[in-house]
Amino acid sequence: MEVLSERVSTGVPRLDTMLGGGFIRGRTYLVTGETGVGKTILSLQFILNGLQLGEYCVYVSIDERIEGVLRGAESLGWDFWSYMQTGQFIPLELRIYSSDIRKYGKDSRAFVDAIYRAMRGRPVTRLVLDPVSALAQGAKDEFFVREYLREIITTIEEKFRVTTLMTTDIPTGSNTLSRFALEEFLASGVVVLKVNKLLGRLVRTIYVRKMRWSSMDSTEYVFTIEPGRGIVIREPYEVYLNRVASKGPKLVDDPSKQAKEPDET
Ligand SMILES: Nc1ncnc2c1ncn2[C@@H]1O[C@H](COP(=O)(O)OP(=O)(O)OP(=O)(O)O)[C@@H](O)[C@H]1O
Ligand SMILES: [Mg+2]
Repeated sequence: MEVLSERVSTGVPRLDTMLGGGFIRGRTYLVTGETGVGKTILSLQFILNGLQLGEYCVYVSIDERIEGVLRGAESLGWDFWSYMQTGQFIPLELRIYSSDIRKYGKDSRAFVDAIYRAMRGRPVTRLVLDPVSALAQGAKDEFFVREYLREIITTIEEKFRVTTLMTTDIPTGSNTLSRFALEEFLASGVVVLKVNKLLGRLVRTIYVRKMRWSSMDSTEYVFTIEPGRGIVIREPYEVYLNRVASKGPKLVDDPSKQAKEPDET
């Protein structure tokens, strides 16, 4: 039987606390946000955490060259290549064509089988699908897309028993949580990443929108992306805003003066 108290670290210590102890083992989670907000970095951090604990992890890059992703990781000081050589890290690049979705709209087996084959019997515990929203790019029939996604997620949960992190990108400036208004329902939890423009600079924030079977902290926190550390969660956004506001109009009058770096909590 599934143990709800069995938690898997996200790789971001403060996020684990916000989620009530981390992701529940074997469940599927969604990280959502606009482009460039840090979804891939968070995914890689989740994988790296597993690798460092000796786990087998699969990262599925959908519609983006895996080399590019791993090179980006290198810029943060993260080395995935050595884990690849030992077979612990299993990167996979999958391209989905809208014609395939139309043709095999309700057949998600090809996608899941490709992941299964890549595992080659290894005891994989963590899986990333980045971004699932790309699975349906160009597909006209949203009904098929929804069924397709639903089947993929349920099959993975039943067949693989891995903890899955999937990302979805949302249109810039939109208030929706996901691209197909389905990912968030299928997921056991939703983490939202945001970029806010403040005094001419971008301030990134993170909050937990949903977390089944857990008491969660839904406070919106500021985060930064640091070489070697990836996503680092700092003070609550409200505290940050008050701190910036308390500096008075001087800061607003003088755009060359930037708001002080957020404090780590
Ligand atoms: N080495 C680095 N040091 C600091 N920040 C970095 C570094 N590399 C990338 N970033 C920041 O991370 C952002 C990209 O993050 P990421 O690729 O995870 O976004 P994403 O949400 O996955 O975007 P997309 O939806 O386009 O895939 C960049 O905009 C950049 O600001
Ligand atoms: Mg990305």
